[in-house]
Amino acid sequence: MTPELNWLSDPTVFAVNRLDAHSDHVCYRTVQEAAQRHSSLRQPLDGMWRFVWSSCPAQRPADFWREGADLSGFGTIRVPGHMETQGYGQLQYTNTLYPWDGRSALRPPQVDLNDDPVGSYAREFDLDAGLRGQRVCISFQGVEQAMYLWCNGKFVGYAEDSFTPSEFDLTPYIKETGNRICVEVYKRSSAAWIEDQDFFRFSGMFRPVYLYAKPAVHLADIWLKADLSEDNTTGLLTPELKLDGETEGVSVTLRLTDPEGYALYEGPVTGDTIELEGIQPWSHKTPVLYHAELTLKDAQGTVQEVVPYDIGFRRFEMKDGIMCLNGERVVFNGVNRHEWNPEKGRAIDADDMNAAMAVLKANNINAVRTCHYPDQSLWYDLCDKNGIYMIDETNLESHGSWQKLGAIEPSWNVPGGLPEWKDCVVDRARSMLERDKNHAAVLIWSCGNESYAGEDILAMTQFFHAKDPSRLVHYEGVVHNRAFAAITDMESRMYAKPWEIREYLESKPEKPFILCEYMHDMGNSLGGMESYVKLAEEYPQYQGGFIWDYMDQAIWHTDVMGRKVLGYGGDFGERTTDYNFSGNGIVYADGAEKPAMQDVRYWYASPADRAAQDTVNAAAAAQADRTLAEAWQSRRAYPLVVTQGDGNLGVKGKNFEMLFSIAGAGPASLKVNGTEWLWRAPRPAFWRASTDNDRGCGFPLRAAAWMAADVFVTYSGMKVLEAGPDCVKVQFQFGIPTVPGASAELVYTVEAQSALRVDAVYHGVAGAPELPCFGVKFETFGPVTRTVWTGLSGETYPDRYKGGVFGCHEETPHVEPHLVPQDCGMHMQTRQAMLEQRDACGHTTATLTLQQVDAPFAFSALPNTAQEIEAAQHITELPATGRTSVMVLGAVRGVGGIDSWGTDVEEPYHVSGEEDHSVSFRIVL
Ligand code: GAL
Repeated sequence: MTPELNWLSDPTVFAVNRLDAHSDHVCYRTVQEAAQRHSSLRQPLDGMWRFVWSSCPAQRPADFWREGADLSGFGTIRVPGHMETQGYGQLQYTNTLYPWDGRSALRPPQVDLNDDPVGSYAREFDLDAGLRGQRVCISFQGVEQAMYLWCNGKFVGYAEDSFTPSEFDLTPYIKETGNRICVEVYKRSSAAWIEDQDFFRFSGMFRPVYLYAKPAVHLADIWLKADLSEDNTTGLLTPELKLDGETEGVSVTLRLTDPEGYALYEGPVTGDTIELEGIQPWSHKTPVLYHAELTLKDAQGTVQEVVPYDIGFRRFEMKDGIMCLNGERVVFNGVNRHEWNPEKGRAIDADDMNAAMAVLKANNINAVRTCHYPDQSLWYDLCDKNGIYMIDETNLESHGSWQKLGAIEPSWNVPGGLPEWKDCVVDRARSMLERDKNHAAVLIWSCGNESYAGEDILAMTQFFHAKDPSRLVHYEGVVHNRAFAAITDMESRMYAKPWEIREYLESKPEKPFILCEYMHDMGNSLGGMESYVKLAEEYPQYQGGFIWDYMDQAIWHTDVMGRKVLGYGGDFGERTTDYNFSGNGIVYADGAEKPAMQDVRYWYASPADRAAQDTVNAAAAAQADRTLAEAWQSRRAYPLVVTQGDGNLGVKGKNFEMLFSIAGAGPASLKVNGTEWLWRAPRPAFWRASTDNDRGCGFPLRAAAWMAADVFVTYSGMKVLEAGPDCVKVQFQFGIPTVPGASAELVYTVEAQSALRVDAVYHGVAGAPELPCFGVKFETFGPVTRTVWTGLSGETYPDRYKGGVFGCHEETPHVEPHLVPQDCGMHMQTRQAMLEQRDACGHTTATLTLQQVDAPFAFSALPNTAQEIEAAQHITELPATGRTSVMVLGAVRGVGGIDSWGTDVEEPYHVSGEEDHSVSFRIVL
């Protein structure tokens, strides 16, 4: 057969000579090999391959696959890996717009052959001993996006679908030694129209590649259907096997052992259902796996293959419109997870997966959606083992074919009902199902993401149902075309507002409800999770949701100034791009947890565990209040000494002195034990740097007057209200030119118990825009190296604080490494905050203590001002001023979390500009 370039743009050609998809089992030659998990039937081909990158097909070395071709001009590339992360071609992040938008005028299934980079890969090898003399196949676990394969100068086959294996039989071409395989990988093909996921657009052999041998007879496919009967203790195991080769007279036996190693069954596999008593059901809480070992013997009784596989017995079904596992309603406390590593992109390895699983486990996450493609097989093993429920999603997204800049316009949607795309998308469903069907964790098959709806996707659902009645089918896209409601077994939506969901649930619906995406965790987000979790408590048909998403997708790179930084869309010079819109994780791109994680952990805990944490918090807070009040009561008073200067009013007390500056409109100096704390006099705080969610809903524009007010206020001089040995009280009033009629005042009271009390009041005015925050801000003279506070742990905001644990906590002032800097580091319900300076040896040299007066306050201490943060595009761009910016607030706007493209924070977490606000605190000296 002669390979053809026009296969690239023909949706009916997506697999040429590709072997049938099959289960992800590993065949071992002997029982010993199986025990050691080392198969002599497999030969990895990972590592360095010879490589040439070409910008388009016309430029490629078209004959490199010929036997004896001179490859001396080739360089090398690592497999698995993307071309783009290894210096070949353009890194590009784009969401819905096709990557060639505005450059090539294309419609499905066209491909611009002037803009279709090609990677020419070659690899020489000898067969390992275990593979010699047998049938030999090759498995490409993931190649993005279309590949042609040659072996020893002969064309072998062609395949698309980046995220499921493509396997080929090399037997007719392979030799014991001196083999060369050649692969041409094309970045774009007709598949590009249906792989329009919101992610970095890569190409290359990004998952493992290996050879495998088939002995005379081979277990090509296994399906260990492990059902659980209604009594929840009887397991019903129906093994279905596919053999390949000399099948005459062969036998397969099964040994099934429980987690303690006791054999529950040992005998032949006949195709009949095996009934097993005393089975422990598989679930999130009890992910009990049973170990199956299949032994394949040839007609002479010689072992040919041994296949171990861990299975879980469970029953997943729809009962009266509710999804039930083992008879009980399930609630998905889920997260969407893209495969990601900040160096290697989607070419992740076991370490990445283990790290992600540890985070899921530590934070009460019980479910994952493999957005928007099937993951590497190891991830499914980990989910089985750890009891993580899975929505396994087909590699299908054609977002740009039906939605343009938010508007729905499906006139050239693919696959739609187009007959030429049907086989291709059903094949994708089949490749996933066949590979993953043995995994207990997979409860739901998903047809893909955001591809609109039509006959072709309906055919995928029909395929799933016909093939596997033990699972349900998910698809969200029917919300845009209800004529195809039958595609999905559950009502699935993304980013629906709590009240919209309530409306659905109240309508006595037929189908249960899930949010396949919610809590858009872009930057500093995840506020208001409570509103969703409460739905699960009220409505049995609300069955949870999947946070968007697990990890920020960004790539380490060195910017033009030579600084190493996590780069996001646009940083690599690419256009079109959607900039930092791929940074929505509950962990950063390097795997570190974002501060919001404590709220994930809290809201995904059981109601009883949450109530217990609330009770402990309340008791700890009450105790802190008592302790602080008593300490204040018992403080000794010392007379104050007042000095009236021409420009300053000076006050001295025990260990401290301060100057109230008339021109500076506040205390220009606050010296405690010889350490100067103030850079300039404090000012009313009206601005916290905008978050991604603020920007998404246009809040900064609506509140812009406050950004100016935060910098530009007018003041009318100092009013001395009292100046004696017991008390000095001065007042500064501020006008706000950008918000006419609104005003603020700061009143400082020096108390003889050695304290400076600060009372800040904002006087609202009708028509004033909403405030980002209100309180007092100041910059310290020197850097604060540590803050120690009594209040809630971590970072908290009005709509995201319940996960905080009350106690004494500390941190180094820092700006959180969100892809684009934004407000961060807020601490709600603070009783006391201590700012510390240290010397070079780390010894504390000075401490300033802020305490609540009547009510707790919110505070943040950051190395940058709100204005500096607002201006920076990357964390590396923030100036190192050596000062710390402290805000003590009485009101602060929530961060929101419903989405990042229009929905405001929930009503109770707005800060009205029409109402008054205040904060009081005391600096204990
Ligand atoms: C959804 C989509 C995700 C992601 C998200 C926004 O519409 O399914 O892939 O783009 O929006 O971050």
